[in-house]
Amino acid sequence: MELKDAIKTRKSIREYEDKPIPENKLLNTLEAARLAPSGANRQYWKFVVVRDPQKRRDLAEASGGQNHVARAPVVIAAVSTMPDGLMRCGVPGYAVDLAIAVDHMTLAAVDEGLGTCWIGAFSQESAREILHIPAKYTIVTLLTLGFPEQPGKPKTRKSLDEIVCCDTFSE
Ligand SMILES: Cc1cc2nc3c(=O)[nH]c(=O)nc-3n(C[C@H](O)[C@H](O)[C@H](O)COP(=O)(O)O)c2cc1C
Repeated sequence: MELKDAIKTRKSIREYEDKPIPENKLLNTLEAARLAPSGANRQYWKFVVVRDPQKRRDLAEASGGQNHVARAPVVIAAVSTMPDGLMRCGVPGYAVDLAIAVDHMTLAAVDEGLGTCWIGAFSQESAREILHIPAKYTIVTLLTLGFPEQPGKPKTRKSLDEIVCCDTFSE
């Protein structure tokens, strides 16, 4: 699939078929994270692939009852193993690193015929406990993964005119 088609096709999927993900599709999705760039190529990350149904139900509860977390056959917890420090620009680098890796996975998943949904609304403490992640690490996001049961909602986005300005900033 062309990259631009993957970008256009990717939507948050919250309804999944009750069907396991073939290993090669899962590995191709994870490989996209492995190849993602990170600050100084540090790769301070770990991706916990959660298939266990009880753990997915527990993660759904830790996500305020978001049922798609339990219904997706796989949930990937994207974990920073060095969740401190700011880049010289004042922005936390670990969140940027993990966001890039997860975005790579969302696009690779589309290419595999899979759907994803970022989950940011979850309890850090509860999710860490469920997955036995040490308190010194931070889960940046949970990513649901599975075969889409529906294509997702149409994209609603601001126009380029609203978000791009030239040479100097303007509101
Ligand atoms: C950082 C981040 C956190 C998100 N958290 C959630 C979430 O907790 N639950 C959920 O259903 N969707 C979540 N989303 C999905 C967004 O609602 C969705 O990406 C946005 O509405 C645009 O829709 P689209 O992904 O279909 O293009 C999150 C997305 C991002 C990027």
